[in-house]
Amino acid sequence: MIATVPSLPGQLFTGPNVVELADVDFAYAAGDKPILSGLSMRFPRGKVVAVMGGSGCGKTTVMRLIGGMVRPQSGRVTFNGADIDTMDQDGLYAVRRQMGMLFQFGALFTDLSVFDNVAFPLREHTDLPESMIRDLVLMKLNAVGLRGARDLMPAQISGGMARRVALARAIALDPALIMYDEPFAGLDPISLGLTANLIRSLNNALGATTIIVSHDVQETFQIADYVYFIANGSIAAEGEPEALRASTDPFVHQFVHAEADGPVPFHYPGPSLADDFAAGGSR
Ligand SMILES: Nc1ncnc2c1ncn2[C@@H]1O[C@H](COP(=O)(O)OP(=O)(O)O)[C@@H](O)[C@H]1O
Ligand SMILES: [Mg+2]
Repeated sequence: MIATVPSLPGQLFTGPNVVELADVDFAYAAGDKPILSGLSMRFPRGKVVAVMGGSGCGKTTVMRLIGGMVRPQSGRVTFNGADIDTMDQDGLYAVRRQMGMLFQFGALFTDLSVFDNVAFPLREHTDLPESMIRDLVLMKLNAVGLRGARDLMPAQISGGMARRVALARAIALDPALIMYDEPFAGLDPISLGLTANLIRSLNNALGATTIIVSHDVQETFQIADYVYFIANGSIAAEGEPEALRASTDPFVHQFVHAEADGPVPFHYPGPSLADDFAAGGSR
């Protein structure tokens, strides 16, 4: 493994994976049933990788582990070869500057214009002169097709436009890694397709690596190079979208084809229907 400069975690690292999780166990409180157990994942440089699975399976938690917001009870989380799971606050700050994040329900600052929303991370994290910030913001807004909307306030734009502004804000610092948590949630079909294509093209234009957390199979499969399905705390299935689409694995089939019942049961556990009817009047 190539040595890294401690103050700039991972900058000299040229391994194939930007992020790796190795045998990670995680619970929010010690003694609780682990949310993730023995989880291993790889996020190769330049790729768009999706993390999918049912609501509450731990997708957002995976993002928090990579961002160093929470630490695993055991196992390793690395960013460009540097250990996130044991990193101090200065190290985490330096690492997070190389990560762009679009959080679940991540809203724009309602009292800031579109321009100022995108400028925010640049003003927060750099000492660049305002003239340069202006050029950078206009470039990012141009990339999402909203340069002309720069003076509007969030209340004056549609939900789909707001999501694109949030994308521009996530990439403001030219991150090496971009993480999107449920980027398609609540979008109409046209905005959804547009957002998906933007996520793919921004990754390629920036030479970045992208992680998408989503349960939207069709849109995600269209732009992902590789997909992980999480269930019961670990990887239930993984592969390239075409392979997963063709999979006969019951879990994958249920998820990909949006079937109500299967290995993930429709019914909350309980007595059988026949037993319940036989029990007559008593509840
Ligand atoms: N801050 C927290 N404290 C305790 N439990 C949490 C916290 N955040 C999430 N959880 C629980 O962890 C599980 C996984 O959550 P999450 O990663 O948000 O799932 P997903 O993003 O896949 O819907 C859920 O059961 C959720 O209730
Ligand atoms: Mg989530």
